Amino acid sequence: MARLVVVANRLPVSVIKRKDGLRVSSSPGGLASGLSACFRPESDRWVGWPGIAAERLSMAERESLEGRLRRRGHCPVFLSQEEVERYYLGFSNRTLWPLAHYFPQYAVYDRSLWEAYRRVNQRFAETVVEVVEPGDTIWVHDYQLMLLPGMLRQRLGTDATIGFFLHIPFPSFEVFRTLPWRREMVEGLMGADLVGFHTYDDALHFLESVRRLTGASDNVGRITWEGRVVTVDAFPMGIDVDRYAGASQLPEVEEQLRRVRQQLGATRVVLSVDRLDYSKGIPQRLEAFELFLERHPQYRERVTMVMVAVPSRTEVPAYQALKREVDERISRINGRYGTLGWMPIRYLYRSLPFAALAALYHVADVALVTPLRDGMNLVCKEFVASKRDGRGVLILSEMAGAAKQLPEALLVNPHNVEQMAAALDEALSMSEDDQRARNRLMQQRLRQYDVDWWATTFLRRLEEARGVQRALAQK
Ligand code: G6P
Repeated sequence: MARLVVVANRLPVSVIKRKDGLRVSSSPGGLASGLSACFRPESDRWVGWPGIAAERLSMAERESLEGRLRRRGHCPVFLSQEEVERYYLGFSNRTLWPLAHYFPQYAVYDRSLWEAYRRVNQRFAETVVEVVEPGDTIWVHDYQLMLLPGMLRQRLGTDATIGFFLHIPFPSFEVFRTLPWRREMVEGLMGADLVGFHTYDDALHFLESVRRLTGASDNVGRITWEGRVVTVDAFPMGIDVDRYAGASQLPEVEEQLRRVRQQLGATRVVLSVDRLDYSKGIPQRLEAFELFLERHPQYRERVTMVMVAVPSRTEVPAYQALKREVDERISRINGRYGTLGWMPIRYLYRSLPFAALAALYHVADVALVTPLRDGMNLVCKEFVASKRDGRGVLILSEMAGAAKQLPEALLVNPHNVEQMAAALDEALSMSEDDQRARNRLMQQRLRQYDVDWWATTFLRRLEEARGVQRALAQK
């Protein structure tokens, strides 16, 4: 198998500076665990940002960190504080992220942010060019690096094998067209041999943007572009099913389970887990839970919502405003319905270690996963995979990419608070037979389309796309 060069904004590990030195921990997001199955640290390379601004590291710290990372096959791209602000917090997360998730009101169009994005994509290109060898497969990930395939194609020529996967939605052209640099973005992606999305809707939106912006139309997902063929397809990302299915047997998870049961008492549990992000529909979810308590007094003191909100992009104003809103809503609901012995919502604003999360998946009767828009969403898959005895109900937003693969969940429109409140009632009164029948079907599908399937299918299609390319070159 060809050597793999993974390129993503983040390395699979992030570095945090503490008083006692540098701490290396795993990065947020599903990509790192997703690719671990096919990434071979002895030979493969992973190019990415270590998650800390370069100014925060002394020269000696930087050198020793670089040595540590390189031993794991990780090639760091160091970003200055200004680059972090303009490229990562700026263009990536104040322009592209809101646009892709249909929040154009939050999107900032600022030329200096765009220029920083282009410059940093160029920096990534330089690092890739340094580490890549002939015959390697380059796999670029996500919205922070959409110009990179084009830049790499320019430097490496038609012989290079370049795949790109977008982990977030590609919006409809009517939203995407508002971006002043829309054509550059689309052309950047077309530097790849294969452009992958989670769903066919995303692939179709991309093809429509290509056609409207460049005039190039596709033939069943293949576009002829500058003498090459660019293949476009959908590859829904899966999870490592055994990691979740087997978790409840681990001693550290058993220990957590005992603690959770003791702390929550006999109430039934509705679980909510996300990064604190406005695309996740957290205020609407809280409103639905409040309405549910209002309409169904019999559940008061008998059902508790455990809300885990993982801090994310806390320097971006829209995330700060959301944090305030969520804090206020939770205290209002707890103040209104709580009793001395029962708090309706237990709120954890932090990320949890795997054992604690696995214990929560295990005890939860219901998972309420209701993003307003989500490329895929892996939390809902992790919850279903964790349900070894088949009990537990998933309430899932129809706006998550995962909804296409999990139709046995109770699917809801995340803007429809009444529907979500009714779904909570339905979930909590669903028969165990019905729960098991639904979960078994979903679990089979999660096993069939797991994360290994995702990575190997993408890489195989990339190889096929190269075959088409070679045949074309020989004509
Ligand atoms: C989403 C994105 C990833 C990103 C992750 C965490 O899953 O698709 O690219 O890494 O969120 O966000 P952060 O901004 O902390 O990297």
